[in-house]
Amino acid sequence: EKGGYEHFMLKEIFEQPKSIHDTLRGRLLVNEGIIKMAGIWDHLERINQAQKITIIACGTSWHAGLIGEYLIEEFARIPVEVEYASEFRYRNPIITDKDIVIAISQSGETADTMAAIKMAKEKGAFIYGICNVVDSSIARITDAGSYTHAGPEIGVASTKAFTSQLTILSLIALKLGKHNGNLSNQEFMRLITELDALPKKVEEVLESTHEITKEIAKHFVDAQNFLYLGRGYNFPAALEGALKLKEISYIHAEGYPAAEMKHGPIALIDENMPIVIIAPRQGHYDKIVSNVQEIKARKGKIIAVVNSGDTQVASMADYVIEFPETSECFSPILASVPLQLLAYYVAVYRGANVDQPRNLAKSVTVE
Ligand code: F6R
Repeated sequence: EKGGYEHFMLKEIFEQPKSIHDTLRGRLLVNEGIIKMAGIWDHLERINQAQKITIIACGTSWHAGLIGEYLIEEFARIPVEVEYASEFRYRNPIITDKDIVIAISQSGETADTMAAIKMAKEKGAFIYGICNVVDSSIARITDAGSYTHAGPEIGVASTKAFTSQLTILSLIALKLGKHNGNLSNQEFMRLITELDALPKKVEEVLESTHEITKEIAKHFVDAQNFLYLGRGYNFPAALEGALKLKEISYIHAEGYPAAEMKHGPIALIDENMPIVIIAPRQGHYDKIVSNVQEIKARKGKIIAVVNSGDTQVASMADYVIEFPETSECFSPILASVPLQLLAYYVAVYRGANVDQPRNLAKSVTVE
């Protein structure tokens, strides 16, 4: 049932070309130049007239939500807030019947997310669900939604569900932007063509990064800490990379927006601190270069996740992981793959139970 892989997690990482393809299937019709999503189409007016969209989720799904904020604000120009469901539900948030709430949950059973939805519903908000598990509690309680169709995710650490959530959020943002006139037809066509190319590119990333991440992981088996840095769309990707590492390898890891380094975490950097930097060419590249220079000056061990052929950041790095170029908005989908592999191999070399990390459950049905 693990299809020849040692763990479900590795199998699920390798399934991503297919799972992303399945998320897009029947929705992204590039030749016709359309995105078909009944859940959005049927409620288009209400969603486009929303004063704000609040995304609620936990854990990895919350990280997807953060990227959703960047996508929806950039392409649909609707204000978005992203909240941990557990905070949202206990803080009397300002939600009215003009609001849209997007709940993201792989399992569709997370207790805090469920409770937050119920509260927002009582206040009259329209609830849109993004779930992976068909007919799950959250899928049933929402007013409309889209399934991610990533297939069953068994490893406790979320991998393919995350990239499918990013794919769905991309579809939603582009569809809204197209229909509310914020996205020109030309730009829409360029972006959907790129989106359509992602399954193939993820396959390339798996092929080109598998061996190198395995090799890099060997050097960090005894690390005590890790920092993950990114900017823009890749700041949440850094948070997610750090979460993957900590939950399965039990190494303490933190994600940060690269520019926040100098507001505190830079004090931690010395020759013993591994720092993963996500720095694609499209996306604040020059700013990242100067962040990397600051780290280099303090002798941090740099693992650079950059586009193929990169020279500037790569030349300062101790280890280099390359992935193909895409629009900045889709780069977290590609950059996340080697970060999943890196976390996986570090955990495997430490002898950890990657599919069932200690203290964690696949779905958190109690608060
Ligand atoms: C991390 C992980 C958790 C879940 C979180 C929300 O790898 O799996 O952080 O993302 O418990 O779960 P869902 O998405 O099922 O609501």
